[in-house]
Amino acid sequence: MRNVKISAVGSWVPPRILSNADLEKLVDTTSDWILERTGIEERHIADADVATSDMAIEAAKRALAERGTTAEDVDAIIVCTVTPDHMFPSTACIVQHKLGAKHAWGFDLIAACSSFVYGLTTAAHLVGAGTHQKVLVIGADTMSRIIDYTDRATCVLFGDGAGAFLIEPGADGEGGFIGFKNEVDGSGGDMLKMPAGGSRMPPTHETVDQRLHFVHQEGQAVFKFAVKKMGDISAQLLEMHGLKASDVKLMIPHQANRRIILACADRLGMPHENVLINIERYGNTTSGTIPIATREAMDTGRLEKGDLVLFAAVGAGFTVGANLWRWAI
Ligand code: UT7
Repeated sequence: MRNVKISAVGSWVPPRILSNADLEKLVDTTSDWILERTGIEERHIADADVATSDMAIEAAKRALAERGTTAEDVDAIIVCTVTPDHMFPSTACIVQHKLGAKHAWGFDLIAACSSFVYGLTTAAHLVGAGTHQKVLVIGADTMSRIIDYTDRATCVLFGDGAGAFLIEPGADGEGGFIGFKNEVDGSGGDMLKMPAGGSRMPPTHETVDQRLHFVHQEGQAVFKFAVKKMGDISAQLLEMHGLKASDVKLMIPHQANRRIILACADRLGMPHENVLINIERYGNTTSGTIPIATREAMDTGRLEKGDLVLFAAVGAGFTVGANLWRWAI
């Protein structure tokens, strides 16, 4: 496999903010409860006329502009999302057309909060195989469209946003993709899901009345699984490559709950200052968290060429994933 690098990163979040104080007016909750239990202070919410593809395109444009390249040079587009514009056509097709990526094929990748890590793994192999030169991996979710704003257990957690990585061949010794470990444990499927709207439970008046087109979650079960698995898979991946937690300059984990992230860092024996947390300003943007956080790490000088970066996530399914990259830009 040839060397593969992340060559550019872009992100976009909608400007409108939903604060904890705003949520106090919607459901029986308090700002203190939300902050203490999740670490979230505010999240961004898309306007009614903004769909997932719109955010995906903005993030992709920023990544392409940073690299100084055009959409016509892109060979493939992977849109990681659980909130596609439609069941079909795929959001990747909409992004391909509106971006003007005339030579790209693409598809949507659904692995909930692990989608972006799975997308990175996939893109690394498309480019690594030598068959693709430029692959866009976009994580974009408009979670506010599938959240029940009468359910205090879920509505405080999520926000909207998107981020995009451009993946390209790297020169020998330049750094780039080191390895991955991804897993699925489908026995956890009922713990976090949107029950209706698919072929198992097509939309009917009854499913709408029962609010089954919204996210339903067994919060504590997901919490426990996430702490254990995000830590374990990261440790296993490091060990596979003869590396230690202390070798990692920055861990960029999925942002679902500040307590999950810190417990995972403790499990790995990683100092908290080596873990990027920005959940306070975005909440859980599902596929968007990792690329949004990565862009922030670059903007705040927390990533330098040569740094070892660990991406890790746990999501509905259950899906679990980790990627190791040597930062090359
Ligand atoms: O990306 C992957 C997807 N999701 C996750 O990773 C999320 C995983 N889970 C979590 O982050 C946490 O379980 C939550 C933040 C969802 C909940 O925190 P918790 O500490 O596990 O709380 P809990 O579910 O055990 O609930 C504790 C209490 C309950 O009241 P009682 O039964 O003790 O009287 C809840 O009804 O807190 C109550 N509660 C709330 N109170 C105020 C639940 N949600 C709220 C709320 N405001 N928003």
